[in-house]
Amino acid sequence: MFVAPTFRSGDREGDPAVYFRRELVVGPGLRRATLRASALGILVSYVNGTRVGDDVLAPGWTSYRHRVDLRAHDVTTLLAEGPAVLGAIVGEGWALGRLGWENTRNHYSDKPAWYAELELEYADRTETVTTDGAVRVGTGAVLSTSIYDGETHDARLEPHGWSEPGFDASGWSGVSAVEWPGELVTPLGPPIRRVEELAPVEVLTTPSGRTVVDFGQIVSGWVRFTVDGPAGTTVTLRHAELVTDGELDPTTLRTAKATDRYTLRGGGPETWEPSFTFHGFRYVEVDGWPGALDPAALRAVVVHSDMARTGWLETSDPLLNRLHANVVWSMRGNFVGVPTDCPQRDERLGWTGDIHAFAPTAAFLYDVRGVLGSWLTDLAAEQRAAGSVPWVVPDVLPHPSSPTALWSDVAVGLPAALYAEYGDPAILEAAYPSMTAFVDQVEGLLDENGLWSGGFQYGDWLDPDAPPEDPAGGKTDRHLVAAAYLCRTVRTLADAAQVLGHTADADRYGALATRVREAFRAEYVTPTGRVSGETVTAYALAVCFGLVEGPELAKAGGRLAALVAKSGYRISTGFAGTPFVLDALTATGHLAEAFLMLAEKSCPSFLYPVTQGATTVWERWDSIRPDGTLNPSGMTSLNHYALGAVASWLHRTVGGLSAAEPGYRRVRIAPRPGAGLTHATLRHDTDHGRIEVAWRVDGTTTVVEVTLPDGVTGSVELPADPDARTLEVGPGVHRWEYATLVGPAEVLDFDTPLRTLAADPAVWRSLTDVFAKHLPGIPIEATAPEAARISLNIMLDLIPGAPAAMRDDLAAALTGGTTR
Ligand code: BGC
Repeated sequence: MFVAPTFRSGDREGDPAVYFRRELVVGPGLRRATLRASALGILVSYVNGTRVGDDVLAPGWTSYRHRVDLRAHDVTTLLAEGPAVLGAIVGEGWALGRLGWENTRNHYSDKPAWYAELELEYADRTETVTTDGAVRVGTGAVLSTSIYDGETHDARLEPHGWSEPGFDASGWSGVSAVEWPGELVTPLGPPIRRVEELAPVEVLTTPSGRTVVDFGQIVSGWVRFTVDGPAGTTVTLRHAELVTDGELDPTTLRTAKATDRYTLRGGGPETWEPSFTFHGFRYVEVDGWPGALDPAALRAVVVHSDMARTGWLETSDPLLNRLHANVVWSMRGNFVGVPTDCPQRDERLGWTGDIHAFAPTAAFLYDVRGVLGSWLTDLAAEQRAAGSVPWVVPDVLPHPSSPTALWSDVAVGLPAALYAEYGDPAILEAAYPSMTAFVDQVEGLLDENGLWSGGFQYGDWLDPDAPPEDPAGGKTDRHLVAAAYLCRTVRTLADAAQVLGHTADADRYGALATRVREAFRAEYVTPTGRVSGETVTAYALAVCFGLVEGPELAKAGGRLAALVAKSGYRISTGFAGTPFVLDALTATGHLAEAFLMLAEKSCPSFLYPVTQGATTVWERWDSIRPDGTLNPSGMTSLNHYALGAVASWLHRTVGGLSAAEPGYRRVRIAPRPGAGLTHATLRHDTDHGRIEVAWRVDGTTTVVEVTLPDGVTGSVELPADPDARTLEVGPGVHRWEYATLVGPAEVLDFDTPLRTLAADPAVWRSLTDVFAKHLPGIPIEATAPEAARISLNIMLDLIPGAPAAMRDDLAAALTGGTTR
C-alpha cells in the first residue's frame, strides 16, 4: 500500500521532503531480491544506504489518478543475511507541487506517499516486504523540492545512516495508509536518466558583478558541482535560458524560480546535484561559492527519457544543420517523461497540440513508442473519465477542455503518426476506442452543413501576425482550420478502421470523411480553386489534406507560392500551418519557393533564430526580436519543439527518405537538392535495420548512395538526373554517379522571385536594363534586399507609376533566358 506521514506535509510550498524507512531481516540463502518502488511525489530509493538504480525523477509523470509507474530494480547485491533497511526520500514532484501557470498544487495527493515491495527469493520460498505500518518517517537535508522553483538541501541536516540498519528512528513518526484510486503499472516508457554531461564553455562576470556560467546549450536537467568550503556556506544556483544586457534573464521562466540551494556540511570536497527538480537552462548564476569558482567543478547534467536515437541528417549548410540540431535538442528537452510544451517556465505540461504537430519529426529522431505509448494510454484514460480529450495530458487544468483541432484530435493523429513510423497495427488497435470516441464526439457537434463551425478553437495558434495578447487570433479563420483538420482526422480514422479490419466502421467513417470534405469544399473552396481567406495556412492545409483537387490544385499551389513570395519568404503561419507549408509548396511544383523559405534568414523565418545563436527551437520564430529584445507577449519560451515540425520536411525532401508503406518495409527515396545545398546524408534506424541516403553534387556530377537493410525495398528518384530515372531497388548498397542535369529547368515569369531571376546573370542584366530605361530613378537593385524576395508582379504593384510598355519589355527580358 501507499503510506504517508502522519505529520503535516506537502500541502504548502516549500515543505521539506519526507524520509521513509522500513526495517526488515533477510534470512539465510537469499538468491535474488527485486525492489519495486513508486511514489506520489518524486522518489529516490535506497537499500542499506545505497541509492537504487540509475533512473531519476521516478516514477515520472503519468496521469496519476489512473496509473502510476512501478519500476523494478534488482537489488540482490545490496542485501545480505541479517537486518536490512529499505529507504526512500519523497519530494513533492508532480503529484503535490504546483503545476500550470495558475499555480494550483496538490493535484493528485495532499501528502508525499511511498509504495514499495521487496521480493526476496530463497531456494524454497519467496517473501515479500511491503510498505506497511512498520514504516517510520522523518525529515532530513532535503528542505524543498519544487519542480518549478528548485531544490534546497542543507547537508548538515542529513541524519547519518538513516537508511541503514542500526539507525535510531525512535524519534520518527508513524505512517497512515493512503486511499488512492489509480493502478500501479509496469512502465510502458523508458526511465528518465542522466543522458549526457556538458562542461561550461564560459564563465561570465556580469555588469553587476555576478558570476554566470554558460554551458553553451539550452538543456533540460540540472547542474552537478563539487565544492570545498566551510560548513554552513550556502551555494545558490539560479538557472535561465538567456542573458540580457550581460545579466541572467529569467523572464522566460515566468514565475518559476529555478533556483537550487546547497548548504555545505564542511570538512572536505562535497559533490551535489538535485534529485527532485529539473530546469530548462543554458546559463546558471552562481552565488555564495567559497573561493574562486573553477569551471571544472560544474557540469550541466542533461536529463530526459532514455530513448534510442533513430534519425540523423547532415547537410552542406551549417545553418541548416544547426536548425536540425536545435530541433533535436528541443525534443530532448521536452521528453522528460511526458511530451511537454516547454521545460523551463511555470507550465511544462503535456500540451496535446504541440506533440500533434511534432509527432512525425519525433518518431523519426527517436524511438518514441515507449514515451508516447504511455502518454496515449493516459490520454485515453483521461478522455474516458472526462468525456473529452484534455488539452493537456496528464490533465491538471482547472477547467474542462472542449474538443479543438490540432489539440484534441491528437487522439487520432498521434496513433496514426506512430503507425506510419513503426507499421505496427497494435498501436492503432490500442488507440482505436479513443480515436473513435473523439470523432464520434465531434460528429455530434457538426452544424447542419457538416462543418465544425462552433466552439472554442486554438486556430492557427501563434500566427506571427496574431495580436500578442490573442495568440489564437491569427489571419486564418479558426473554424476553417478546425474543418480542415477534421477532414484529415476522419479520413485517418477511416483508414485505421480499414487496417484493423473493422469494415463497417471503415465504411461509416469513410462516408463521414466524404461528408466533412464536401462541407469544407462547399464553404471554403471557390470553383476555380481559391481557398477562403487566402492565407498561407489555409492553402497549406487545403493542399496537404487533399481538400483541393484537379486543376484547383495548381491554382491553390500558385496562390500559395504568391502569398509566400509576398511575405518575403518569411513565416506567416502558426502551429497549424507551419508543419505543412513546405510540403504544400513541394506538392504543387513550387520547390524553389520552398527552398527560398527554408533559406530565408530575416525575422520571422526558419533560420532567423539560428542566426541569433539559438540552440533550441523557440516558441515563436521571433521570441527574441531583431533588436535583441524578448517578445513581450509573456509566452516566449526558447525551447518549444512544436515549430520544429519543419524537420520532417527536411528528412523527406533534403534527406529524401519517406515510408512508402507504414513501418518502412517499402520506401521512397527522392532527395531534392535546393537552396545551394551540395550534399546531405540521412540515416534512419527502422525495425528492419538502418536506412542510409547520401547525395552529393560536385560541379557537374551527382553521386547518390542508398543503403537498404534486409527486407526493405524501395523506389529511388535520382535528383537532377537528365534521364529522370526512377529505379526499383532492394536490400544492399546502391550507388549512382551521373552528369547533373543542366539547362532549362524552370520557366521564368512575373511570379518568379527576384532572387531566382537574379541567379541567372543574363536575365538579371536584361531586367535591370528595362528598369534603367523606364524608371531611371528606381534601379531594380536599389530595392534589395527586400526586392530579392518578391516577384516582378508584386514589385509592379508597389510602383503604381510603372509605364505599361515596361511590362512588355520585362516579358521580353524574361524569355531571353531560363535559369536552373
Ligand atoms: C503552451 C503551448 C500550448 C498552448 C495552448 C501554451 O501556453 O506553451 O505550446 O499549446 O499554451 O494554449
